[in-house]
Amino acid sequence: MPVAIITGASRGLGRALAEALAARGWDLVLDARGPEVLKETATALEAYGTRVTAVPGDVTDSWHRTGLVTEARRLGGVDLLVSNASALGAEPLVRLAELPLEGLRRALEVNVVAALGLVREALPLLRAAPAGAVVTISSDAAAEAYETWGGYGASKAALDQLAAVLGTEEPGLRVWALDPGDMATDLYAAGVPDDDDPRPDPASVVPALLRLLDERPASGRYGAPALLEAR
Ligand SMILES: NC(=O)c1ccc[n+]([C@@H]2O[C@H](COP(=O)([O-])OP(=O)(O)OC[C@H]3O[C@@H](n4cnc5c(N)ncnc54)[C@H](OP(=O)(O)O)[C@@H]3O)[C@@H](O)[C@H]2O)c1
Repeated sequence: MPVAIITGASRGLGRALAEALAARGWDLVLDARGPEVLKETATALEAYGTRVTAVPGDVTDSWHRTGLVTEARRLGGVDLLVSNASALGAEPLVRLAELPLEGLRRALEVNVVAALGLVREALPLLRAAPAGAVVTISSDAAAEAYETWGGYGASKAALDQLAAVLGTEEPGLRVWALDPGDMATDLYAAGVPDDDDPRPDPASVVPALLRLLDERPASGRYGAPALLEAR
C-alpha cells in the first residue's frame, strides 16, 4: 500500500485529506502538536483498515520530523508528503504595522523552514517511490495583497517558491502547491474571528488533491476551485 505523511492532520483539511486517503487504502503517518485529538483522529481512520501511525509533535522540531520519516519507512516508504501544518503569525491577524516580528518568524519557521526540513528528510524515500509526490498547502494570501494577511501570505509565497524550485530540481517527483481557498476551520476562525460568512467545509477541497494524485499533472501551483470545476 502507498504511504503518506500528512502534517497537521488532527483536524481541518489535514484530517479530511487523511480520511480520503485511508478510504483509498493508503497507510498514513500523521502529526499534530495536540496528542489527544491526533489520537482520536488516528483511531477513527483505522476503521478503514489501513495502518495509521500518529506521531504527536511540532513540525519545527527536527527530531520530530526525523520521527515522522522513520515511521513512514517502517510502513514501507514515502509515496506522498503533504506539508499542511501552518501558523498564522498572529491570532487574530493584524496589519503589518502591528505584526510582532516573533509572529512572522514563527510563521516562516512552521510554514517554510519546517516544510523544507521535512522534504529533505523524506527525499531519499520519495525518490525511491514509484510515483513520489510532495504537496505543499498554499493560500490565496500568497498571491493577493489582502490586508492583515501580510506575514502569513509572505510565508506562503516563500513556500510556493520552494515548491516551484523543488519541482524543477527533482524532475522525477511531482511537487504541487495546492491553494485550497477559504475553509471553515479553526485556523480561519483564529485568524478572522469576526467573519461570520459561511466558508466551505475542508472535505469539499479533498477531491482537488485526489485529482492531482490521479492525473499527476506537471509540478506547479494549482488552485482547488479550478481543479474541482473541471472535474
Ligand atoms: N482555513 C482556510 O481558510 C485556509 C485557507 C487557505 C489555506 N489554508 C491552509 O490549509 C492548511 C490547513 O489549515 P486548516 O485551515 O485545516 O487548519 P486547522 O483546522 O486549524 O488545522 C491545523 C492542523 O495543523 C496542526 N498544527 C498546527 N501547527 C502545527 C505545528 N507547528 N506542528 C504540527 N502540527 C501543527 C493542528 O493541530 P495542533 O494545533 O494540535 O498542532 C491541526 O491538526 C494550512 O496550511 C493553512 O494555511 C487554510
